[in-house]
Amino acid sequence: MADNATTSFADRALQDAPTDYAQLREWVAQVAELTQPDAVQWVDGSEEEYARLADELVAAGTLTRLAEDKFPNSFAAFSDPADVARVEDRTFICSEKEEDAGFTNNWMDPEKMHGILDDAFAGSMRGRTMYVIPFVMGHLDAEDPKYGVELTDSAYVVLSMRIMARIGQDVLDKMSREQAFYVPAVHSVGAPLEPGQEDVPWPCNSTKWIVHFPEERSIWSFGSGYGGNALLGKKCYALRIASVMARDEAWLAEHMLILKLTSPEGRSYHITGAFPSACGKTNLALIDPTIEGWKAETLGDDITWIRAGKDGEFRVINPETGYFGVAPGTGWSTNPNAMRAITKGNSIFTNVALTDDGGVWWEGMTDEVPEHLTDWRGNDWTPASETPAAHPNSRFCTPIEQTDMLADEYHDPKGVKLDAILFGGRRKTTIPLVTESFDWEDGILKAATLSSETTAAAAGAVGVVRRDPMAMLPFLGYDAGDYLAHWVEESGKADPEKLPRIYLVNWFRRNRDGGFAWPGFGENSRVLKWVVERLEGRADAVETPIGHVPSPEALDLTGIDVPAEDLEDALKVDAEEWAKENELIEEWLGRFGESLPAMVRERFEAQKERFARA
Ligand code: GDP
Ligand code: PGA
Ligand code: MN
Repeated sequence: MADNATTSFADRALQDAPTDYAQLREWVAQVAELTQPDAVQWVDGSEEEYARLADELVAAGTLTRLAEDKFPNSFAAFSDPADVARVEDRTFICSEKEEDAGFTNNWMDPEKMHGILDDAFAGSMRGRTMYVIPFVMGHLDAEDPKYGVELTDSAYVVLSMRIMARIGQDVLDKMSREQAFYVPAVHSVGAPLEPGQEDVPWPCNSTKWIVHFPEERSIWSFGSGYGGNALLGKKCYALRIASVMARDEAWLAEHMLILKLTSPEGRSYHITGAFPSACGKTNLALIDPTIEGWKAETLGDDITWIRAGKDGEFRVINPETGYFGVAPGTGWSTNPNAMRAITKGNSIFTNVALTDDGGVWWEGMTDEVPEHLTDWRGNDWTPASETPAAHPNSRFCTPIEQTDMLADEYHDPKGVKLDAILFGGRRKTTIPLVTESFDWEDGILKAATLSSETTAAAAGAVGVVRRDPMAMLPFLGYDAGDYLAHWVEESGKADPEKLPRIYLVNWFRRNRDGGFAWPGFGENSRVLKWVVERLEGRADAVETPIGHVPSPEALDLTGIDVPAEDLEDALKVDAEEWAKENELIEEWLGRFGESLPAMVRERFEAQKERFARA
């Protein structure tokens, strides 16, 4: 062991480096020189390492170990109350040209931003350990593995990354052998410790920078420990940077769940669903169908990479290995598959409430509300309390392999053939429960003009309707119009006969009394059944100006009691609502400028004409 006082940060970073990959060693050394950590640890991804880091975090007060009989090998973390969600106004796409970031992104000149980051990161890891996490998004034995290395001063990030992605020594070995390209991703909580200074359980900084350099394919994240800002393999890499890689390498990186659905006749279909954050991806991915004979299996709940296969079809994989799911609303009655996976253990909960017997609880987990809890801020909580026990964006982080209903094909690097895509959002009005687009191009229009009310998944106002193209608004690594054009181009390569069908869905429409018009959750299997029957040319639909909507009889409602008025409210295409909607879409499309594909504009004109004729 070299003496810390006399060795340089770079020497310290490399003294135990388990790789001879020169370029990687050089970069790690450089970042160590900049951030000046007390120690550098190369993460091997082993269970022993996980246990040791977890023990350290328990001792530091960051993690609370849960009762072994209820949540084995599981922990709860409580963040700083100001660090609970993604921070979209602090998220930047720093492309060389501003126009390449497009109107939906924050942009800054890369050189200027590097200057700012150099200042922010200078000495930012002082008093802490810098962990080196080699990871791969997707399969390590994929044809073209997508590597990354995250440098972080948060052990919570190391533990969470081990759940969410394939990490560790075998990844490092293969990456080093191939001298492969990796996405360099640097994360610091931005809270250096002076000698003798006591740490806090959740260090972070009131200034946050979540920055992507698309041309360099690099990520720099400063000041936040929250998942979406700090687990850099997830949204930062697998969506923002990957969307740019995908543009350049002819594939698609999308914010989608993947579901395998098998009909009573034994025919299987693969359906993806793109919904904005906290709008139902994880729940649909883990659906427990309520209709007889239908089987659902999952492949993924958040991110999907799509490639045109050799035989002219779209194939999809999930690049992740875990769930980072919204806890509130995930319960034994709404999502038993998620609950079974979670309670097997090996999970990290963030900002949930603690029960008196060492378990966790959140709103909606059980029908019965506990008499007493410790809320996410550490205060006593009873059912009479006026604030929620768990933060609305509290999360569970759980290995996907703990899912009983995991599809075998999850393990196949070649992925599965895609049959249908659902685009959805959270809309109280206007958008019917399900609409089949007229054709592929009309489907692209629907996706390009997708909208949703904002949620607690991002900092800022909740419940405001905003356009969210393909549910990718906060995750696009480049210009939104160019992104739509890329979709058009990629689909042009697929066999038109094999293109997936596109549906618009809305589980959140309100009825005339203000309640949900549709029961949702497991009952969404009835909508999926209609979708599959449409694929097979068997289900009835009513043609409306926006596409085909189920006739009330076409939805299988066996065994549930949905009032006729609710069904009507869920399915109606209301001319007045759509007059307003079309105005909002007009305004939205106007913001794209030159880069909007002409086809999208044309298909919108056609939609307006259909309303004028109706
Ligand atoms: P994700 O962030 O897109 O994965 O969304 P989740 O599946 O975690 O769901 C976010 C929130 O929406 C949770 O509070 C769920 O309970 C709620 N939710 C999900 N599906 C439905 C549904 O079908 N109906 C209703 N009413 N709420 C839902
Ligand atoms: P989600 O993603 O909200 O889409 O589940 C996690 C996050 O980035 O907060
Ligand atoms: Mn989710």
